[in-house]
Amino acid sequence: MATPSQHRPATRRAPLPVGPLSGRRTAWRRLAAQAVAALNRGLDRLPVGHWLHRRVRRRLEQPELELPLREPAPGLHGLKICFVSDVHAGSFLDEHDLCELFDRIQAAAPDLVLFGGDLINTRERELLLFREPLRRLRPTFGMFAVPGNHDHFWGPDLGLWTAFLQDQGVEVLTNRGRRIERDGASLWLCGVDDLTEGVPDLAAALHGRRDGETTVLLSHHPDFFFEAAAVDVDLVLSGHTHGGQIRVGGWAPIHHSRFGYERGWFRENGCRLYVGRGVGVTLLPLRIDAPPEIPFVTLCCPSRQNAAAMARDAAGGDAMLSASDADQRPSPAPMP
Ligand SMILES: [Fe+2]
Repeated sequence: MATPSQHRPATRRAPLPVGPLSGRRTAWRRLAAQAVAALNRGLDRLPVGHWLHRRVRRRLEQPELELPLREPAPGLHGLKICFVSDVHAGSFLDEHDLCELFDRIQAAAPDLVLFGGDLINTRERELLLFREPLRRLRPTFGMFAVPGNHDHFWGPDLGLWTAFLQDQGVEVLTNRGRRIERDGASLWLCGVDDLTEGVPDLAAALHGRRDGETTVLLSHHPDFFFEAAAVDVDLVLSGHTHGGQIRVGGWAPIHHSRFGYERGWFRENGCRLYVGRGVGVTLLPLRIDAPPEIPFVTLCCPSRQNAAAMARDAAGGDAMLSASDADQRPSPAPMP
């Protein structure tokens, strides 16, 4: 019989990222971000800005990924998770764009829709852009969200942000978790606050989890994986980096992860991290070598997964995780 695990502290703390655009937002950075956002709103009214952003949107990808579970949980086999991050509504994306986007998500029939933070860009009123689009989503087991650094734009108080989402049927998982039960199996779905602008508390997010229970953690900032990988989490879903957003020769001039968790799969201690490239843009309506994406992750029970892998091996195909490009394959991530 599974028992609730103890409220145990993390064995290590995720360090704050470093760099001129990382870490807590100063008054000057807030001012600069507001100025850029205002500039972008003006740019979006110009044909060239509008055209540039439409080009970005047309390249949206919906990779179908598979996550083999570590423990047998047949009831979770086939559970389909849609991960939406970094929408930055109000920065080139308006209500009409979001309606189209969410129609596409609903057409894929996900069981869960998880929002990985940065729903808004710089203004709380941008939340209102989600009211109608959210009505179009009807995932079987609900919608859940954690905040990103932009959702914290005006400080630590997320009262309005949280109340709005809860009112629209999105359960906010800031430093808390809840159980999803399906066909006799259970999933501990939890989330933490943003690493740079908030106060993430992994122990609180895991409080109530049963020993050995399959666990999915939402964390806007991928560097929180440093902490989560030490406490038996099956999957961490993160965003924030926009996959580099603008990459030249495979290199992104602006870094957002101390550990190089820029995009795709990473693995440590049997725990996997997927860093989504996100939906929206900041600074400029440009993405180079980093198209936007909405990944869908399907959970696979080990026994069935092994059987499928063996079948694929026998057929000469590739096994395990699938993705739209090569760098989304799981790979050991070096930890300092
Ligand atoms: Fe972010």
